[in-house]
Amino acid sequence: MRGGLRQLMERELERCTLLLPSEKACLDPAACFSGQTDEVWLEIGFGGGEHLAWQAAQNPSVGVVGAEIFLNGVAKALRQLKAQGSENVLIYTGDARDLLDCLAPGSLSRAFILFPDPWPKVRHNKRRIVQPESLDRLAEMLRPGAELRLGTDDPDYAAWMLACLDRHPAFVWPVRSAADWRQRPPDWPPTRYEQKALAAGRAPVFMAWRRR
Ligand SMILES: C[S@@+](CC[C@H](N)C(=O)[O-])C[C@H]1O[C@@H](n2cnc3c(N)ncnc32)[C@H](O)[C@@H]1O
Repeated sequence: MRGGLRQLMERELERCTLLLPSEKACLDPAACFSGQTDEVWLEIGFGGGEHLAWQAAQNPSVGVVGAEIFLNGVAKALRQLKAQGSENVLIYTGDARDLLDCLAPGSLSRAFILFPDPWPKVRHNKRRIVQPESLDRLAEMLRPGAELRLGTDDPDYAAWMLACLDRHPAFVWPVRSAADWRQRPPDWPPTRYEQKALAAGRAPVFMAWRRR
């Protein structure tokens, strides 16, 4: 990255980094935004940030928190957010599970986990971000009626997600027909990994679960 660009990124990152509290204290994400926020949404593993930036632009009264460990992705997202003038985004540049460990209960109205790494080998399945434990944490963070959106192009991960969510007492999938999971809703823009999947001929699955 060139010097000027790096400085710009560093400034942007400083402005919108979400820092975790020390000593495992509870973090109220709404209080971390400089402006008024009606609700807070969380995107885990936002990659290049296309979806994050779109949601931030379309929902200026929502505080959008993005968690991503891949720094090139963070830089790409920052560029887009700066270009579109979004100030309602905070970024956590670490493992989303550490963030889930300290967010205040009931502090989120929506969460997105879109095309997470599939970890296809059975011995690596435990590395998947969708796990009974992470769902327990999300169930605690999400308000009643809140939405948990999941997308994947990996049939095995789709079945895994379905099994984990279906077994979880806090979530329900209000699905009425196959179109509900085959078609991406209009307020759910495509991500880079979705586009890669489509280009490779794989059919993605879109699930919108509700917190009971
Ligand atoms: C397959 S990519 C999908 C990116 C994006 N959601 C999309 O659909 O284009 C998965 C992303 O999740 C990020 N990731 C994986 N584990 C993570 C974790 N524990 N916390 C935060 N980000 C994570 C990776 O760095 C990567 O950018």
